[in-house]
Amino acid sequence: MAATNDWTPTSWRSKPIKQEVVYDDQLAVNKAVTKLTNLPPLVTAHEIWKLRASLRDVALGKSFLLQGGDCAELFSYCNAGSIDSKTKLLLQMSLVLVYGANKPVVRIARMAGQYAKPRSSPMETQPDGTKIPSFRGDILNGFPAEERAIDPGRLVEAYFHSAATLNYLRAQLASGVADLHNPLDWNLGHVSDPDLAERYHKIVDSIAESLRFMRTIGADTAGQLQTVDLYTSHEGLLLEYESAMTRKLRHPNNKFSACAGVPAETRSNNSDSEDEEDESGHYNTSAHFLWVGDRTRQPDHAHIEYFRGIINPIGIKVGPTTSVSDLCELLDVVNPDKEIGKVTLITRYGQDKVADLLPTHIKAVRESGHIVVWQCDPMHGNTRSTATGIKTRSFGAVFNELEASLRIHRALGSVLGGVHLELTGDDVTECTGGSVGLEDEDLGSRYETFCDPRLNEKQALELAFLIAGFQRKGRASVAV
Ligand code: PEP
Ligand code: CO
Repeated sequence: MAATNDWTPTSWRSKPIKQEVVYDDQLAVNKAVTKLTNLPPLVTAHEIWKLRASLRDVALGKSFLLQGGDCAELFSYCNAGSIDSKTKLLLQMSLVLVYGANKPVVRIARMAGQYAKPRSSPMETQPDGTKIPSFRGDILNGFPAEERAIDPGRLVEAYFHSAATLNYLRAQLASGVADLHNPLDWNLGHVSDPDLAERYHKIVDSIAESLRFMRTIGADTAGQLQTVDLYTSHEGLLLEYESAMTRKLRHPNNKFSACAGVPAETRSNNSDSEDEEDESGHYNTSAHFLWVGDRTRQPDHAHIEYFRGIINPIGIKVGPTTSVSDLCELLDVVNPDKEIGKVTLITRYGQDKVADLLPTHIKAVRESGHIVVWQCDPMHGNTRSTATGIKTRSFGAVFNELEASLRIHRALGSVLGGVHLELTGDDVTECTGGSVGLEDEDLGSRYETFCDPRLNEKQALELAFLIAGFQRKGRASVAV
């Protein structure tokens, strides 16, 4: 179980912290935290254990993980259209990946809470030369220049936007938005390369054929085609919020079927047990899955102190500056019992560095005895600026890092368990390349992100096709 020696939801306060937030009005923060502490959980212990069981399967190579959504989710994205388009995109991508990996796909949205952003600098210089505080995500301040002061009231606003997003997501899924009996619109008209178009159409035909077959033989009687599981996640950056949303809850009765691999002495499910510690634990109830970012993952700092105490499955970003010794120490600190799939290592090196760095990390983790989910984030190591200073990413670079990761894991007898993407269901122009053929000069037309550039709907789906192609044939060519 999670290490709880001397741990409390607020023990992180005694440690040094990166990306610190200095609030002017501490009374208002205390008021917000008290309010959050009393509001109901957004997710349940049962759901968290269900995801843990699914991630255990991913770590063991039995399932594939798709995680995606906005870089910075704004409160204004809490509307039906944005939520629907992201849900539809994640569902379609997951079908393509089921086809490619020939395994079930676990879906986690970067949604319903991705409101806090780490920044490289606390201040930003405006075009007229004036300096204002950087935008740190809607949970702290607003993007417009006049809203950059940190506002503690946003902590509670974040909860309600998260709740409204999750409520709509749950309602839509329960009402059949993911019902595979309905035909899906694959919208592939933009793919002008005839070879590529043919390959993508083949995949779509094959998916449609499989669905038809399952319906014909009545294989969907258990309702599996009517809905899917979609979990939520965000970076656990703002610890005031995360600790206020942490609850000590009784473990669900069936949790241990979800978690083979825990020590036998804690596996007892006896409700008469006098040891309350064995019966309950601390859950972060703001999302099913949380990850710690590249800038806040120091083993002896506040964020890792918080993360080591929660039951939720967690992610850790791993990049060019992650040393082998830090990586192994981190795993021991957050997962001393070496529970399989409890930790997802989200690697984000960049297309030029992945071949140098990933093999060393894979070997070190194998020697440590931890069995993790290896997930590739091909976005954050591949950000570049255009000649006119626009922050973008090339589709080709994103795919190159992904393909290299797949190849390296395969060569070392390891498994790339999943992908972590920044994407939107909208038709934005933020990343270049792909079959939509966006060039640097096109980026101005619908550049809408408030943080990092996201794949648009067509680019994200195309990436899923290319991954599926690689998984099926062991190779893929890429349109850049
Ligand atoms: C992110 O995922 O949006 C992010 C900031 O990534 P990283 O911590 O890897 O830089
Ligand atoms: Co980002």
